[in-house]
Amino acid sequence: MKVFFIGAGPGAEDLITIRGAKLLQSVEIVMYAGSLVPRVILKYCRSNVKIHNTASLSLDKQVDIFKAAKAHDLNIARLHSGDPAIYGAMAEQIEWLKKLEIEYEITPGVSSFTAAAAVLKTELTKPEVSQTIILTRVSGRASKVPELESLEKLASHKSTMCIFLSGRQLPEIVSTLLQFYPGKTPLALVQKASWNVGEKIHRSELETLLSEIKLDDWELTSMLIVGDVLGDELPVESKLYSGQYSHRFRQAESLK
Ligand SMILES: C[S@@+](CC[C@H](N)C(=O)[O-])C[C@H]1O[C@@H](n2cnc3c(N)ncnc32)[C@H](O)[C@@H]1O
Repeated sequence: MKVFFIGAGPGAEDLITIRGAKLLQSVEIVMYAGSLVPRVILKYCRSNVKIHNTASLSLDKQVDIFKAAKAHDLNIARLHSGDPAIYGAMAEQIEWLKKLEIEYEITPGVSSFTAAAAVLKTELTKPEVSQTIILTRVSGRASKVPELESLEKLASHKSTMCIFLSGRQLPEIVSTLLQFYPGKTPLALVQKASWNVGEKIHRSELETLLSEIKLDDWELTSMLIVGDVLGDELPVESKLYSGQYSHRFRQAESLK
């Protein structure tokens, strides 16, 4: 018996990996976070699969499913939205699997922050604009962000920021960011990036965002991306494809 943690991707049925979809076809039991993973992803499951929506289950109840599957030697696919390594609440399940001596394996997925960048048709790292992406969130009821990683501390870098799980706290987030980023800094809210139904984008600037949106509309499944990379400017190009630049795989045209 084994538990396969699988990144379901951001929502589109064809943004799960081939490995993830094949694993889904192979197992007898599927546990999925129904609040974030759309049901369309379950199309890869075999017809007689037992499906548990974990949105309504405590960790104890999920552990009961692990125990029962072990007793009957059945494999489980545990689907997490995006990539399970990011805000997946996977660590506490792994603790239990270790205690129960159950084997597990992780299959990565397309995270929502890269899906959001794709929807925005942009790169999140541009030479001399930003070469660092901070993935973060603000403290919520479920878990706190360590003080050393407070938004104030992270915002001082003025890098590209992708802020997860923070719909309800947008006013506080914007006001903190404005202490560090200029008011004209571009940003985008992306909701349900890649979903068949419900995908939404709002592009704005830090100083105007809050006057343009209804907070309630952005509470769930929304990502805030902030930074100059969202602007149109590309002050310099990367040398990677420059004709004047040699590297291990290509000689500069001037040296040929
Ligand atoms: C519990 S976290 C899981 C993140 C996930 N593991 C990932 O890699 O994207 C849920 C948060 O991810 C973001 N999120 C997940 N799917 C999204 C999507 N399709 N579009 C925009 N944001 C999304 C939202 O900020 C949401 O509140």
